[in-house]
Amino acid sequence: MMKEALTYHVPVLLKESIAGLNIQPDGIYVDVTFGGGGHAKEIVKGLHGAGRLYGFDQDEDAEKNSLPDKSFTFVRSNFRYLIQFMDWHGIKAIDGLLADLGVSSHHFDDETRGFSFRFTGDLDMRMNKRSGKTAAELLNTYPEEALADVFYIYGELRNSRAIAKAIVQARNNRKIKTTQDFLDILKPFFSREKEKKQLAQAFQALRIEVNGEMDALKELLEQASQLLKPGGRMVVITYHSLEDRLVKNFFKTGNFEGEIEKDFYGNIQSPFKAINNKVIVPDEEEIDRNPRSRSAKLRIVEKVK
Ligand SMILES: C[S@@+](CC[C@H](N)C(=O)[O-])C[C@H]1O[C@@H](n2cnc3c(N)ncnc32)[C@H](O)[C@@H]1O
Repeated sequence: MMKEALTYHVPVLLKESIAGLNIQPDGIYVDVTFGGGGHAKEIVKGLHGAGRLYGFDQDEDAEKNSLPDKSFTFVRSNFRYLIQFMDWHGIKAIDGLLADLGVSSHHFDDETRGFSFRFTGDLDMRMNKRSGKTAAELLNTYPEEALADVFYIYGELRNSRAIAKAIVQARNNRKIKTTQDFLDILKPFFSREKEKKQLAQAFQALRIEVNGEMDALKELLEQASQLLKPGGRMVVITYHSLEDRLVKNFFKTGNFEGEIEKDFYGNIQSPFKAINNKVIVPDEEEIDRNPRSRSAKLRIVEKVK
């Protein structure tokens, strides 16, 4: 299939997340993961007059999807610099923020980016092609123990130590360069039935490390909670349990460990009030239509007044 014919990204939990933002027509909103602009287009529809949307994405490819609407501004940056860039645009407080974490379908479908084991290509995996170490550089330089941690912590792979050892052995013979090189190292560790799932876990783990995703998420959540006006909404869609745990803890307690602080009367002290007590997940219809949505989890909170 020609690359142009592929959809950049199908937005996940669109209706639910937009409803969660409770858009005020003259409000200031930020979509920190603009991607194909699927969520952003819906947000902009709800704005009038002074209403504004700022769309962040660290991938220059996403800028091509920028919305031709005077209420929209694209910001090519990592969302870990949220406050800095909003400040630059003269914004000190916002009414709502949406984060639809991780990579887009565009990343998986572009064989030159190295995100997918469906293609042979350079093992890059950087969302921002202009900065940081590629996945190949990381595999060729990280100490064995650090590699094992990446696959254990981010990939939840039980044989992470053996995988790390095999990576070090392989790179001593020849530099690891492509997705195929990485696949050749991994495949002997996975059984046929579980191969696809475990390869996805290994690729995901490497991607999380390459892009510093967990640290960026922590910085985002802290800055978002400072920027949000009282009554403002934060809407976050996660795709794996580590991300979800972090978001869940932070929303419940205002810290990443989920340590509950109570006031004199025993009420939990948190900067947020949950809008959905139970996590929102896609229904069967959405999963059939868009299998990528399968692992999505949506959480919505309001900043306490
Ligand atoms: C799941 S996609 C979002 C799709 C979007 N909601 C849509 O409807 O098209 C995630 C996007 O966020 C971007 N992204 C991920 N982490 C980021 C970060 N730390 N800073 C900025 N952009 C990031 C990725 O480049 C990708 O385009």
